[in-house]
Amino acid sequence: MDLIPAPNHVDEWEPHEWTFQLRPTTRIGADQGAQGVARWLRSELSAATGFTLDACTPEQANRSADSVTLVLDERLRAERGREAYRITVDVYGARLAGGGRPGLFYAAQTFRQLLGPAAFRRAPITGEPWRVPSVSIEDAPRFGWRGVLLDVSRHFLPKSDVLRFLDLMAAHKLNVLHLHLTDDQGWRIEIERYPRLTEVGAWRERSMVGFRAADRRDDRPHGGYYTKDDLREIVAYAAKRHITVVPEIDLPGHSQAAIAAYPELGNTDVVDTAALGVWTDWGINPNVLNVSERTLRFFEGVLEEVLEVFPSRFVHLGGDECPKEQWRASPAAQARIKELGLADEEELQSWFIRHFDGWLAERGRRLIGWDEILEGGLAPGAAVSSWRGYAGGVAAARAGHDVVMCPEQYVYLDHRQAPGEDEPIPVGYVRTLEDVYRFEPVPAELDNAAAAHILGTQANLWTEFMDDARDVDYRAFPRLAAFAEVAWSDLPRDPAARDFAGFQRRMAAHYRRLDALGVEYRRPEGPRPWQRRPGVVGRPSDGPPPAV
Ligand code: ACM
Repeated sequence: MDLIPAPNHVDEWEPHEWTFQLRPTTRIGADQGAQGVARWLRSELSAATGFTLDACTPEQANRSADSVTLVLDERLRAERGREAYRITVDVYGARLAGGGRPGLFYAAQTFRQLLGPAAFRRAPITGEPWRVPSVSIEDAPRFGWRGVLLDVSRHFLPKSDVLRFLDLMAAHKLNVLHLHLTDDQGWRIEIERYPRLTEVGAWRERSMVGFRAADRRDDRPHGGYYTKDDLREIVAYAAKRHITVVPEIDLPGHSQAAIAAYPELGNTDVVDTAALGVWTDWGINPNVLNVSERTLRFFEGVLEEVLEVFPSRFVHLGGDECPKEQWRASPAAQARIKELGLADEEELQSWFIRHFDGWLAERGRRLIGWDEILEGGLAPGAAVSSWRGYAGGVAAARAGHDVVMCPEQYVYLDHRQAPGEDEPIPVGYVRTLEDVYRFEPVPAELDNAAAAHILGTQANLWTEFMDDARDVDYRAFPRLAAFAEVAWSDLPRDPAARDFAGFQRRMAAHYRRLDALGVEYRRPEGPRPWQRRPGVVGRPSDGPPPAV
């Protein structure tokens, strides 16, 4: 059956002649609470099979072997939670049960995998029968946060590509899309009260090609943004697939696009911010926000509109890579430090983030930020995305803060996935499919109480070197399939004890699913000709990554 991510428990019986078959006459019977998942399943399977898969009542479905039944199961919910599911396929039909709607949705996803790779196509291609082996599956995820970061600032990804990416996430039972909406190189979310953020901030004149040391440019202008209605659609589309979209507005660094739109947001007593455009380089940028009351009010205004669109409990406010030179040179920033009785610029950043932590908490939301927010003191309710290795996450979890583990040494999927000359614009350490499969999100040094603060894990896709969805496909897949198994399945905690050979065997089937979905993954033998970028300079690091 070659399921990915691997379920916790599978009982496969000897092949029976009565193996279940999806037919033109098959009907789908769903509980009241199961109608949404039934609609999703019918829409996907009708497209792939050409069958209408008419609705019937669960009672009718229970009486017919030619049916798929979808139910919510209170007991499963009580015992294993809302994301747990059970599938039974036998002579009496196919029965899918979820602890809650998310669990039922994951049952439907697994059921689609059981039907074979052609079930991932949008139209029927053969008259092959749609058989499912007799099987019983019990499954539930290891982590509640199974995330992916998509950087839509460095390269804008059209809405249709984001919706497609959500489908790919859902097929892997991933449930958090962290949308990196703002950065130096582009502001991608419409804010009605500050129209220049997108009129000016969403567009750049040109882009750097490859790593900055090569100083090579493409003079083709780049840009784009999502209207609030686009984002509402993305959020609703994600919700139907039981994915939460966590928006990121990156503060107080990574803000040149906002400063280009509203120069008064920058350190005007240090630099002529009116002369700044949206940044056309990659790298860490010295042009950071000032810390005036006006700037606080400005971003409260931005966040009010962000909260209108995104129901997510967590809101990501960045906090990473904020150079402090301008604050050190700025009389206004220095006066602020004095006035607030702070020790230094680190504490100034901490104060700034704490302000928004409190502001979000008053509105029933929670702040999450990159692990730099630990420097100068962590805001009381804040959660941490641990990216510079495990250390930030370990410190935060020990201090009782929630953590999402996404160490760059393991799960930055912009990093190259093989050694050699052929990888396009090679960045970072070599992180193969096997390396990702052997990533363990919970460091062994954590005791149980601290480990309970690891909400889960996230793979990050930074797009400086990914121009479009085809490039994103190449770097994301197949490694995101291995990551999904790390986040979902009950793998041995000791990475060395994991059965990578078994995973690779299952990947043979999974590649066929990805083919049917039209995913341009990296083939095991290497990039195809158009996936290479000969001559474009990257920034590969030598040797294995340092211990983290
Ligand atoms: C990051 O990679 N700067 C969070």
